[in-house]
Amino acid sequence: MHDLGTSRRPDWQLAVVIGAGGLGTAVARRLGQRHRVLVVDVDRARADAVARLLREEGGDADAAYCDITRPDTVEALAREVGGRGGFRILAHVAGLSPHAADFERIIRVNLTGPALVTRALLPIATPGSAAILIASLAAHTYSPSPSVEALLREPEDARTAERLAAELEPEDRTGATAYSLSKYGLLSLCRREAWAWGQKSARIVSLSPGLIATPMGAVEFSNSPVKHELYARTPLAREGTMLEIADAVEFLASDRASFISGTDVLVDGGLAGTLRGG
Ligand SMILES: NC(=O)c1ccc[n+]([C@@H]2O[C@H](COP(=O)([O-])OP(=O)(O)OC[C@H]3O[C@@H](n4cnc5c(N)ncnc54)[C@H](O)[C@@H]3O)[C@@H](O)[C@H]2O)c1
Repeated sequence: MHDLGTSRRPDWQLAVVIGAGGLGTAVARRLGQRHRVLVVDVDRARADAVARLLREEGGDADAAYCDITRPDTVEALAREVGGRGGFRILAHVAGLSPHAADFERIIRVNLTGPALVTRALLPIATPGSAAILIASLAAHTYSPSPSVEALLREPEDARTAERLAAELEPEDRTGATAYSLSKYGLLSLCRREAWAWGQKSARIVSLSPGLIATPMGAVEFSNSPVKHELYARTPLAREGTMLEIADAVEFLASDRASFISGTDVLVDGGLAGTLRGG
């Protein structure tokens, strides 16, 4: 049943998009072409604005508040999603860039957050559900010590960020290290969780963007000489666009990707391969 005068589509399945920033908006707009969308962010006004944008385009979208680092608000989100009939797609896009916060905060938002969200939503996943977690090229350029790697396998533990910091030398407790570690941990989370998601005929995949032209990416260019070096070594000799990430998310979330789970997909113009060497 459609409500006259609105673009509500109760017959469409739900896509939950966590993060209403640059990339989150691009992903929400794309998924919103064929799904109801719940746009989620700790910044409620930002989530509201993206949901409004989608409705103005003829989509069916609502906004919700959630601080992904807080188990109570993540549980509330899971109840809200359950109340909307469950989800077909979870696109977890929210994350902090290396210069956005201190070591522990970056670990909590980029690793503890997605671990809490995927754990809370798994019980309401149904056959065909797919979780796509946005990681980063940075995950592919870092090799943690065995003790650090063991801590990364406990992302939901509230003390993990603190313990990781304690494990590292003071000069390594930087935002850049936290960023790489958090994204490394995210890839490992997807590999580990694929079994549990598979038991529900559902999938979980990480997607690692390389250098993407986003407002967040632009800030990092001005803060990080390393990014200029990475740019110079990207085989396709340009940044990727948010539309190209939305393309990959759309594919990974679709039935055409129905046998892809527990792995990472690089969308980086060939950069990781160049860095690793042939
Ligand atoms: N831009 C790039 O070049 C690039 C490259 C690789 C990976 N990425 C990844 O893409 C993702 C997002 O990029 P973006 O351009 O949308 O970033 P962005 O900074 O524009 O948006 C991030 C969003 O996350 C939200 N957020 C932060 N903390 C939160 C919390 N505790 N709970 C809920 N929401 C929270 C913010 O409010 C913001 O709306 C990140 O995971 C980032 O690591 C970006």
